[in-house]
Amino acid sequence: MSAHSKLAKIEEIVSEQTSVPPASQPVPRVVLVTGGTGGIGTAICKRLARLGHIVATTYRNAEKARLWESEMNKEGFAFHLYQCDVADFEDSQRMVKSVVAELGPIQILVNNAGVTRDSSLRKMTHEQWKTVISSDLDSVFNVTRPAIDYMLESGFGRIINISSINGQKGQFGQSNYAAAKAGMHGFTKALALEVAKKGVTVNTISPGYIETEMVAAVAESIRAGIVAQIPVGRFGTPEDVAHAVAFLVADQSGFITGANLATNGGHFME
Ligand SMILES: NC(=O)c1ccc[n+]([C@@H]2O[C@H](COP(=O)([O-])OP(=O)(O)OC[C@H]3O[C@@H](n4cnc5c(N)ncnc54)[C@H](OP(=O)(O)O)[C@@H]3O)[C@@H](O)[C@H]2O)c1
Repeated sequence: MSAHSKLAKIEEIVSEQTSVPPASQPVPRVVLVTGGTGGIGTAICKRLARLGHIVATTYRNAEKARLWESEMNKEGFAFHLYQCDVADFEDSQRMVKSVVAELGPIQILVNNAGVTRDSSLRKMTHEQWKTVISSDLDSVFNVTRPAIDYMLESGFGRIINISSINGQKGQFGQSNYAAAKAGMHGFTKALALEVAKKGVTVNTISPGYIETEMVAAVAESIRAGIVAQIPVGRFGTPEDVAHAVAFLVADQSGFITGANLATNGGHFME
């Protein structure tokens, strides 16, 4: 077959495919994304809203959240914001109750909020350790615990825990962060077993280096050194992570549970 006729054949197949009606929109569900006002959280909120879901998100910093909300409104998004410190169990319980009372039972939960307090262990303070463990790991318990019954009762649930490549491979100066992010994997697998028969899946996403404001501010020479270690030759984007979330929360992803989806451009493979 000549190159010309091969091309004609491909065009014929594509035109047949485009006459197929688009896949139906997913059922709209109530989604809670913690830390939605951050770089990755924003992309996750937007992606899930575009899929037709009702998206609630949390924040701590009221001024930052107000500016974020007005920016989102300008872009045509209407998110539901809840002030909450997810490192605090009582505050998380209160927040989940408010979301359910105002929007309905939560069926999709993305535990995305997190912080870093980097230091080598010899210099790390107890405060730095506690802040990271409570914000990045305790928070997963604090929010999932009050939300899980709604998912079990409705027979559908998706829980996504945003971990990190550094929870898999370790990172100099991040014993607190690596411990918290690795802990998420154990939580994910244990809970996945507990709820598998009830239509609830629990998975972890481990992003590699993602081009958020923090990474963008790093000196070009250092950035180039990092990119050189990433096989696909670029930083990830918040949208890359949001895409992984959209895949795992889909109704069709019910057979994927207890998994860790590395989203790191090939930077680390297990
Ligand atoms: N960026 C990366 O390269 C990268 C790579 C791997 C994994 N991750 C993970 O991806 C997630 C999002 O990262 P990001 O880069 O988007 O971070 P970010 O821009 O700093 O955003 C973090 C978000 O979490 C919220 N948050 C933090 N602690 C909280 C607490 N105790 N209670 C309530 N909200 C809290 C922040 O709200 P306030 O600002 O109001 O405090 C903010 O909305 C984190 O879990 C991070 O560890 C990021």
